[in-house]
Amino acid sequence: MDRVRIGIIGVGGMGSAHARMMQQIEEVQLTAVADIDSTVAQQVAEQYGVPFFTDYRQCIDSGLVDAVLVATPHPSHPEIAIYAFDRGLHVLCEKPMAIHPADADQMIEAARRAGKVFSIMFQMRTERAYRIARKAIEQGVVGEVMRTQLVSAWYRNQAYYDSAEWRATWAGEGGGVLVNQAPHLLDMFCWLAGLPAKVTAFTHTRLHDIETEDEAFALLEYSNGAHGYLYTTTNEAPGTQRIEIAGDLGKVVVQDGQVSVYRLQTPLREFTHTSTDMWAGPQAEPVQVEVEEMPTGHAHITRNFARAILYGEPLLAPGEEGIWNVELASAIILSSKRGKTVSLPVDRAEYDALLQELRANSQPKRRVIGQRVSDPNIVR
Ligand SMILES: NC(=O)c1ccc[n+]([C@@H]2O[C@H](COP(=O)([O-])OP(=O)(O)OC[C@H]3O[C@@H](n4cnc5c(N)ncnc54)[C@H](O)[C@@H]3O)[C@@H](O)[C@H]2O)c1
Repeated sequence: MDRVRIGIIGVGGMGSAHARMMQQIEEVQLTAVADIDSTVAQQVAEQYGVPFFTDYRQCIDSGLVDAVLVATPHPSHPEIAIYAFDRGLHVLCEKPMAIHPADADQMIEAARRAGKVFSIMFQMRTERAYRIARKAIEQGVVGEVMRTQLVSAWYRNQAYYDSAEWRATWAGEGGGVLVNQAPHLLDMFCWLAGLPAKVTAFTHTRLHDIETEDEAFALLEYSNGAHGYLYTTTNEAPGTQRIEIAGDLGKVVVQDGQVSVYRLQTPLREFTHTSTDMWAGPQAEPVQVEVEEMPTGHAHITRNFARAILYGEPLLAPGEEGIWNVELASAIILSSKRGKTVSLPVDRAEYDALLQELRANSQPKRRVIGQRVSDPNIVR
């Protein structure tokens, strides 16, 4: 095999952009598409001269594909991915891999059982600023983490939420900003600082006519006693994407694609107890960290997925790590809805009970003005 034959399941806004993106990647060939909406499926299929299916199972069973890219609404990702693994296919899954950590557990287990490649579409893992931050932390520049902060503020209007029946409903999406816009930054945050041990959180629906949260904030406690603050919303313009990781040896700050790395000339603990000048503080010096050039975006995650299948290249965004953002988002929702501090990993049965309750009370949307348009800010 010199090219991986890929079928895209779900060719709405993101899936149709992926079909276009795949035309530029020599390691893959788009060989089929599937969408429950036959008009949408047919339109994309005709554009690229491939067969289409309205049932994802037929696409997976067709013999036309070695792998699938799953780009349907998130609650359907587990069922489709597990079906594909069980039939011996590789899976590249859109974020978030699931909205329930128990489903994410099952996806990881299905991939392991099948011995197939499983990757998540976390294209921010290709971005230079985050790769520098990660390398600095791996090199020990920050030392023991003492404080973390994540601000992931986006803007979405009501037309965005009205664009599909599933969006921002408990039954159709299973969460709001925490499971749709925030997963990329939640992933970066966990990639850099690890998962907290406990979360005390609040979620609100403040600006939009939607069922799920458009704002969430949380206090985080880590197992070493460090603490953190997390804020995410779709109510803010201009947006801000900021991560700070402060440690006893230094600090890393990534803001809107720019990274700053600092090393303290004297470690914080040592300086604190040896300095005799009552107004002195440790000097922080900027550190240059170099990383290899790497192409960015969805295309490079897709190329890496194909190269993992063809040549065993290490994955940039492995499926097992896709569970981190699901764990954190679920802990925040559970903490907020039950009014208590939640320990991670999230109790699967407790989260299940909460989701069932929320789904049972979910109402059909009053207004849907259907649009399947990919975000021009991320798809060019
Ligand atoms: N990585 C990124 O940057 C990025 C950006 C946007 C969206 N996404 C993710 O992509 C996924 C899809 O989002 P979107 O904005 O394209 O939504 P969308 O509503 O525009 O498209 C979803 C498509 O899936 C189809 N579909 C629904 N259920 C299906 C099923 N069971 N089988 C086959 N087709 C089915 C729908 O008919 C629709 O055409 C979401 O999980 C979202 O989080 C990722």
